[in-house]
Amino acid sequence: MKRGVADLFERPSSGTRALLVHAGARGEDPERATEEFEELVRATGAEPVALVVSGPRRRDPRYFVGAGKAEELRERVEADAIELAIFNHRLTPAQERNLEALLKCRVLDRIGLILDIFARRASTFEGRLQVELAQLRHLSTRLVRGWTHLERQRGGIGLRGPGETQLETDRRLVGKRIERIGRQLDAVERRREVNRRPRRRSGVPVVSLVGYTNAGKSTLFNRLTGAGVHAADQLFATLDPTLRRLTLPAGSPLVLVDTVGFVGDLPHELVAAFRATLEETRQADLLLHVVDGSAPDGRERAERVNEVLAGIDAGDLPQIEVMNKVDRRAGPVPGPERDDTGAVRRVWLSARTGEGVEALGAALGERFETSCPIREIRLPPGDGRMRARLYELGTVQGEHPCEDGGSIVEVRIANRDLARLGLEGGDARTVKGPASGSPAGPGVRFGTVPRAS
Ligand code: GTP
Repeated sequence: MKRGVADLFERPSSGTRALLVHAGARGEDPERATEEFEELVRATGAEPVALVVSGPRRRDPRYFVGAGKAEELRERVEADAIELAIFNHRLTPAQERNLEALLKCRVLDRIGLILDIFARRASTFEGRLQVELAQLRHLSTRLVRGWTHLERQRGGIGLRGPGETQLETDRRLVGKRIERIGRQLDAVERRREVNRRPRRRSGVPVVSLVGYTNAGKSTLFNRLTGAGVHAADQLFATLDPTLRRLTLPAGSPLVLVDTVGFVGDLPHELVAAFRATLEETRQADLLLHVVDGSAPDGRERAERVNEVLAGIDAGDLPQIEVMNKVDRRAGPVPGPERDDTGAVRRVWLSARTGEGVEALGAALGERFETSCPIREIRLPPGDGRMRARLYELGTVQGEHPCEDGGSIVEVRIANRDLARLGLEGGDARTVKGPASGSPAGPGVRFGTVPRAS
């Protein structure tokens, strides 16, 4: 029988009745801190039965919490028939082992918890590979625990060399699997890079949705594109970047990317595994930072997202903050907020009801479309390459055949793109100036641009 990596441990079996353990930090609001923790636990399908909060003092390095607290946990586990103890912190492999020995139930730390959620949500091939890689990396640090069964020598034909201990076999299996996934991911990444290249060359702006998990990214993405991306009231419903083309109010195209949800303390194993996904974010021209405007700790969550962004070198990218779920909150009016220079820096909206979404469209239009007049470009007969490039840019508004077999293409194109195509001379005639005032008047809609054939 083939052994799965999960079978490498003989650990107490897990169940759904969970004891939550949070060690408070000085100055934090314990209710707020534990609220997110509970949400995360529910996202794994576990049932939070009890919560124990310990103070910041007198920690015992063996158990992470104090020895007295550890004893209290043991009593709780017994009294409430707990099957799983989840810590809202990173534990060392030794602490995990000591706690499992004491509590006689499975112990999961925050990293394991987040990895579990990601594993449940990953839907595409790449997403699943990325999560498995992260899990294996996390697991490989736990292989040094030296549990008795791992030290035992077992006979096995063809599986390992003579005299190899179980621990060595386990390490080798994990190492091999990590290598294999790494190779598969490299191949997926190369394909992704190939797909990204023409996009970059075409000059179509790329806007990436980022935000704390559950802020409403997928709902907004769907609202903007009508793409039917999975949106659920579960943390991390999205795990794979999804790309769609949009048309801005005045007609020019934009690529919108939905990304993974962020959490505080995103495990570095995951950041490493999601390199390719996060790379999409790093390459964006603008970030739409979606914040749950109805969450009491929305601001703190936004700060945590900004920390992760800084950690992946995306901290300096321009951002528009999207204060979502305005329908849930009395007070803020759907619409834009501007900074001193008059640029939109925040938009209040509801991705669910659609209020304020037009204002976001207008803000994107202002940012990307102001220097985009409509021009007519005369193409001589047989210039298929240039025609293809214009369609690739996605800016073609219409095309009219000419008698000589060529055509006139009506295209909305920025000066920089015109220059890039070598058309800034006499080839292009401006027929309509840049969109003026508020580009998104009433009735202006987003829509996906049909791909040119
Ligand atoms: P992850 O995939 O976990 O990163 O989540 P996400 O940011 O993509 O959130 P998603 O779009 O899945 O929305 C999370 C929950 O919030 C869902 O239940 C949505 O229906 C709900 N939601 C999203 N936008 C709004 C909104 O404007 N108003 C209200 N009331 N609920 C919303």
